[in-house]
Amino acid sequence: MTRLTWGMIGGGEGSQIGPVHRIASALDARFDFTAGALDADPAKGRDFARRLGIPADRAYGDWQEMLAAEKNRKDKLDLVTVATPNSTHYAITKGFLEAGINVLCEKPMTVTVDEAEDIAATAKRKGAICAVNYGYTGYALVRHMRAMVARGDLGKVRLAVVEFSHGFHADAADAENPRMRWRYDPAQAGISGQFADCGIHALHMASFVTGQNARELSADFVSAIDSRKLEDDAMVNVRMDGGTTVRLWTSSVAVGSFHGFNIRVFGEKGGLRWAQQWPDQLHWTPLNGRTEIIERGMGGLSPDAERATRIAAGHSEGMLVAFANIYADLADVIAARRLGTAPSPHALHVPTAIDGLRSIAAIKAAVDSVSAGGQWTDARPPSLRG
Ligand SMILES: NC(=O)c1ccc[n+]([C@@H]2O[C@H](COP(=O)([O-])OP(=O)(O)OC[C@H]3O[C@@H](n4cnc5c(N)ncnc54)[C@H](O)[C@@H]3O)[C@@H](O)[C@H]2O)c1
Repeated sequence: MTRLTWGMIGGGEGSQIGPVHRIASALDARFDFTAGALDADPAKGRDFARRLGIPADRAYGDWQEMLAAEKNRKDKLDLVTVATPNSTHYAITKGFLEAGINVLCEKPMTVTVDEAEDIAATAKRKGAICAVNYGYTGYALVRHMRAMVARGDLGKVRLAVVEFSHGFHADAADAENPRMRWRYDPAQAGISGQFADCGIHALHMASFVTGQNARELSADFVSAIDSRKLEDDAMVNVRMDGGTTVRLWTSSVAVGSFHGFNIRVFGEKGGLRWAQQWPDQLHWTPLNGRTEIIERGMGGLSPDAERATRIAAGHSEGMLVAFANIYADLADVIAARRLGTAPSPHALHVPTAIDGLRSIAAIKAAVDSVSAGGQWTDARPPSLRG
């Protein structure tokens, strides 16, 4: 199996998503952690990188230094993950793509639609992979839902109801915590808070499962904690391009909700229900029939779900394996490019810069809709209209 090299920007010591990427990228031993600029503080970043085993000459103080040194190496990195606050994603992702280095960018891919259009165009022009980390699409049963919808088990999908709610930002006394504050600061997070942070996971999930994209939407935002400049709660109605209606609720002040990321899909021939906190069971109810629980790891699942399953039913896999499936798919695609072969067709579900672009356009549409009192607003990126 081809071993690949991997670098990381952001994800420093104590960060939320950095350790998840390090574990997920290492799970299948396809990537060697080779270079990094891990922290906003150069000294801390270098020190942490060295403690993680990165050689001193590839433990960088900042991403510009890393890019300048890495872009001319013969042994160019196979993949770089960008796990910094949102406002930095564009410059970093653009820089590495221009250097011909594949990128896995954290969501939201950029802050503005123009930036997102540019990233999608740059990836295409350079022939580099730009993936966006909608990591929850790596769950085996999410991939099975998608396969069930695609093969027509539900018939026409009428409705999808998606929720991504948590209560971790509900304490007003904790609003100045630096790991939380940037998410509601337009200078670092962009034009939206909770919708851009978690709502777009839910919207992307609805797209992933239904195979449809947002056409127009109507949004309502609330800042439940007064000091916040950006919303911490949002309700969004979306009309998809295949005729499905999506109802989406996202909140960071939902006390008692931990990682309430749930999707229900209602079609003319049956309904599906899945929750991220109980990811190994998918509830399927055929029209006028009894509800069946589909267990991850039992036989008879779609090839996409089989590929994403690592251990037998009854043993928990969870988020780390879901994210690892994103890395495994990227490894297959990158290795196939190197070898001049075709990757498995089941490795081709990783969200791309086009998905990232669609999300940024939806964020802009939601903000515009809120400003116009909830008016229905075109949610498509300019380059994908018509
Ligand atoms: N896909 C997911 O499920 C998921 C989950 C959580 C966070 N995220 C995304 O990941 C990104 C990071 O979020 P987080 O929660 O880990 O944030 P965090 O605040 O916990 O950590 C951010 C890290 O980036 C470092 N950093 C900041 N600026 C930097 C720079 N210019 N160069 C190098 N390092 C820099 C900080 O020092 C810190 O280590 C955000 O875009 C967020 O939306 C995605």
